[in-house]
Amino acid sequence: MTAAAPTSAKPRILISRAIFPQVVDRLASHFDVESNQADELWSPQDIARRLQGKQGALTTGSERVDAALLAQCPGLKICANMAVGYNNFDLPAMTAAGVLATNAPGVLTETTADMGFALMMATARRITEGEHYLRAGQWDRWAYDMLIGQDVHGATLGIIGMGRIGQAIARRGALGFGMKVLYHNRSRLPEADEAAVGAQYVSKQDLLRRADHVVLVVPYSAESHHTIGAAELALMKRSATLTNIARGGIVDDHALAHALQTGQIAAAGLDVFEGEPKVIPELLACTNVVLTPHIASATVPTRLAMANLAADNLIDFLLHGKALTPLNPEVLGQAG
Ligand code: DGY
Repeated sequence: MTAAAPTSAKPRILISRAIFPQVVDRLASHFDVESNQADELWSPQDIARRLQGKQGALTTGSERVDAALLAQCPGLKICANMAVGYNNFDLPAMTAAGVLATNAPGVLTETTADMGFALMMATARRITEGEHYLRAGQWDRWAYDMLIGQDVHGATLGIIGMGRIGQAIARRGALGFGMKVLYHNRSRLPEADEAAVGAQYVSKQDLLRRADHVVLVVPYSAESHHTIGAAELALMKRSATLTNIARGGIVDDHALAHALQTGQIAAAGLDVFEGEPKVIPELLACTNVVLTPHIASATVPTRLAMANLAADNLIDFLLHGKALTPLNPEVLGQAG
C-alpha cells in the first residue's frame, strides 16, 4: 500500500516579489510559503495561477489586485501590501470578495519625509546638475552665477497632502530650516497640529502662487489624478521648485516637462512617474530635474519594518482573525 502524501495543516501564502530572506523565513514558520526570491516579474495570469489554493498574499505596490484577479482566486482571504500606498488594490472589489486588504503605514513616515526633504534640497541647490557638470570636466573656474539656485532655509514651503508624511516634512521645514509652511489637504488639521509647525491651511491655488518649494505627498486616487497639470504649473513662481514623492499620476509629466523646458518653474525633484519604471524622454532630457527611481522609503530599517508589518498582518489575520492595519476592516467582521 502506498502512503498518502502528507498534507500541510498550515495556511498557504504567496510572496509576490523578493523580500528580506529573514522575513520569508519568519513567514515560513507559520505558513506554507511560495516565494519569488528570484524576483521575476509575474504577469497577472502568473499571479492568479500561483494564488490557487492560497489563503494569503504579501504584495508590493507593483501587483494589481482587482476584480478580474479575485474572480480567479476564490480561496484568497488577505492581501498584505508592503507599502503605505495601495492604489494597486481595487478596495471595493476586495471588500465585495471578502478579501482583507492591509497596508504598511507609520513605519516609513520619517524615512520618506527625509527623502522628500533631500529631493527638495537637491532640486533647489542643483546638486545632481552640479555633479554632472563636474564629472563632465566642465568646471574650470569660479563664477558668481555658476549653478546658482534657490534657498531652502527661510523660504515658503507648500505641502499638498498633509497626512503623516506631509506633517513630518512640515516639521523638518519649520523647526529645522525656519520655513514658513503652507498646506492644502482634503481636510484641515486640528488647530494644535497646525500650531505645532506653524502650518497655515490655504487653497491649492493660493499655495501654488505663494510657495517657493511645493512638495506633493497626496495619495493617488481618481480624484488626485493630475493634481498638478499645466494650469497649476502656470500659477507657480518662475523661481519655484516642485517635488513629487507621492505617486506617478499626481503630476501630469508632459505638462511638467514643458514647464521645466520653458522656465515656467525653476526645477523639479521626482521620485515617482506616470507609467514607471518608464520615464518620458521629455523629462529625461531636462537638466533642471532631479530623478530618483521610487526609493523614498528605501532604507534597510524601514524596508525591513514594512516587510515585517505586512508579515504581522498575514500572521494576525490568518492565524488569529485580526489585523494591525486593515484598509477594509468590515471584512474582519465577516471572517471565521
Ligand atoms: C509606499 O509605501 O507606498 C511606497 O511608495 C513604496 O515604496
